[in-house]
Amino acid sequence: MHLFKLPFKKIREKEQLLSAEINVPEHVAIIMDGNGRWAQKRGLPRIAGHREGMDNVKRVVKAANHMGIHILTLYAFSTENWKRPTSEVEYIMKLPIDFLQHYLPELIEENVRIETIGEIERLPKNTRAAILRAKDQTANNTGLILNIAINYGSRGEMLHSIKEIYQEVQEGKYSINDITEETLSKHLYTKNYQDPDLLIRTSGEVRLSNFLLWQSAYSELWFTETLWPDFGPEEFGKAIQDFQQRKRRFGGI
Ligand code: IPE
Ligand code: IPE
Ligand code: MG
Repeated sequence: MHLFKLPFKKIREKEQLLSAEINVPEHVAIIMDGNGRWAQKRGLPRIAGHREGMDNVKRVVKAANHMGIHILTLYAFSTENWKRPTSEVEYIMKLPIDFLQHYLPELIEENVRIETIGEIERLPKNTRAAILRAKDQTANNTGLILNIAINYGSRGEMLHSIKEIYQEVQEGKYSINDITEETLSKHLYTKNYQDPDLLIRTSGEVRLSNFLLWQSAYSELWFTETLWPDFGPEEFGKAIQDFQQRKRRFGGI
């Protein structure tokens, strides 16, 4: 998109205009896949791909913020990813610390607010502490919400929600007949956000891998063969432009 060649201030003006004029998705969710293959293609260890993928997160976050997207949910680690070799998991678990050390000042400057979905209690102590600090430091920022899905699994999330609802019914807060789709939505980790308008997956895999199963009921889906470390602002812009052409009917006509 030509937008990215303009100086920052101009981009802001132009993008504010754009988001007011045309249909910029409010919430974009991305399954950032293909780091391992990116590294293997270069004869590098898989962790080199995760490192490169981390740097790409910053590029895409900035682009999303400049395009006027409100929420960017990034799938960083699934509840199933614990099955990987310990050395890879340990490396991935250190990445949020590294990412925040490198990029938090820039994200603060960009007015980005950091949030997470998933069971962060199970993360190593240092990783959890760095994330909580970043959330705290950015809590009052009013720009893009960067929502990191870490130790996230959609089925686990729904189960957790159902258990909470059951508990509340037991406590007499409401009765079983009061439970609606909205009740479930309001008990998910994503309770504060609207459902994703656009869901992107990189690396050629065409599946959801336990990501936002409830919330993506009416999301527009966009798949690309590009591996995550190579998925730059330009291709991201193409996905947004494609979204803008879609006719969303939500079951209507
Ligand atoms: C995505 O890249 C990152 C995580 C799942 C943590 P992968 O590590 O899955 O890369 P591929 O799919 O093996 O290439
Ligand atoms: C999904 O990618 C999880 C993340 C991107 C964090 P995976 O690489 O784990 O998914 P599968 O195993 O190919 O379905
Ligand atoms: Mg993968």
